[in-house]
Amino acid sequence: MTSVPTLEDLGDLTGKRVLCRVDFNVPLRTSADGTREIADDLRIRAALPTLRYLQQAGATVVACSHLGRPKGQVVAELNMDPVRARLEELLPGIEVLDNLRFNPGETGNDPAFVAELIGGIDAYVNDAFGASHRSHASIVGPPQHVPSAAGRLLEKEVEVLGGMRERTKKPFIAVLGGSKVSDKLGVIEALLKRCDKLIVGGGMCFTFLAAQGNQVGASLLEEDMIDTCRDLLERADGRIIVPHDLTAMGPGGKIGDPSAGGEVRQAGTSLPEGWMGLDIGPGTAAEFSDHILDARTVFWNGPMGVFEDPRFAAGTRTVAQAMADSRAFTVVGGGDSAAAVAEFGMAADFDHISTGGGASLELLEEGDLPGLEALRNSAH
Ligand code: 3PG
Repeated sequence: MTSVPTLEDLGDLTGKRVLCRVDFNVPLRTSADGTREIADDLRIRAALPTLRYLQQAGATVVACSHLGRPKGQVVAELNMDPVRARLEELLPGIEVLDNLRFNPGETGNDPAFVAELIGGIDAYVNDAFGASHRSHASIVGPPQHVPSAAGRLLEKEVEVLGGMRERTKKPFIAVLGGSKVSDKLGVIEALLKRCDKLIVGGGMCFTFLAAQGNQVGASLLEEDMIDTCRDLLERADGRIIVPHDLTAMGPGGKIGDPSAGGEVRQAGTSLPEGWMGLDIGPGTAAEFSDHILDARTVFWNGPMGVFEDPRFAAGTRTVAQAMADSRAFTVVGGGDSAAAVAEFGMAADFDHISTGGGASLELLEEGDLPGLEALRNSAH
């Protein structure tokens, strides 16, 4: 990984006004009294070392982030108030701009919006690893105009994930879940070049299972990706490991609502009509764990099942436990799997929990990100 300028390269910051792009795109929920609250503040806490450094260096810090995808319009529920309040509790005295994506110039990378952002700003810091795969105004714009550097979080993420791409200890096992093969095709190809085994669970496993000739019932399926999965399975020559049993829900059942009825049972890989696979089965979870326990490096992105529903959490929990117990270097990338690890109380047992979902995958796939390139090319 080509090195990027770091905080020290900004020199003396006393009295300077520093714009810090952070990724405060945190999950929100509505509390019992109807107010919006932060479900997981990992991304806010992860930015604190950088914000604290800047403050202690004597700078006035202006933090900016997107929250959700408001598509260039002001969406009241996506204002930064809950984030602002949480940050003020953790580290008082930081100004937080309103949601960058309220302005269409952010995703459109409009020079006029960049000019607005850097007005009165002396230096820029990118600590938004999770958004650094986006060529958006606040990511790629400021480095063209003011002295710029990577924050501590960005530096650490690049060091770990870039290092993982370049020099991993073998056996290297990648564990992928989540719903769509189409979203992860690039990373599957990239990982297959590097890993010894690619374990596939989650919603995306059904397209692979269908490619092997299984009936997947009412499970998530990307019909137009079946041929691609067949080709991947052939080319991988046994290195892509898919489930051999499943936990499935019968007709009439509802995800997240056990009281709705619908039978839940263990099944093989061919599901009857109307049945929906929602987790890997116990045999598969044990097999995946064995692979993980044999590995020296494990990268995990995407849950194995719909873990938010306790009936379909066992697969994700077993796989997470195997990583927690393993002596391998373990990295979790991605909001859902990071949330699962936090929910299971296992976060401390992982070597690195990335704050980036799409960004961690793109960094593994491409070896670079637009945000890093912008910092490297910073004219100052
Ligand atoms: C994320 O949640 O992965 C980042 O904040 C990026 O969000 P985006 O996918 O909406 O660009």
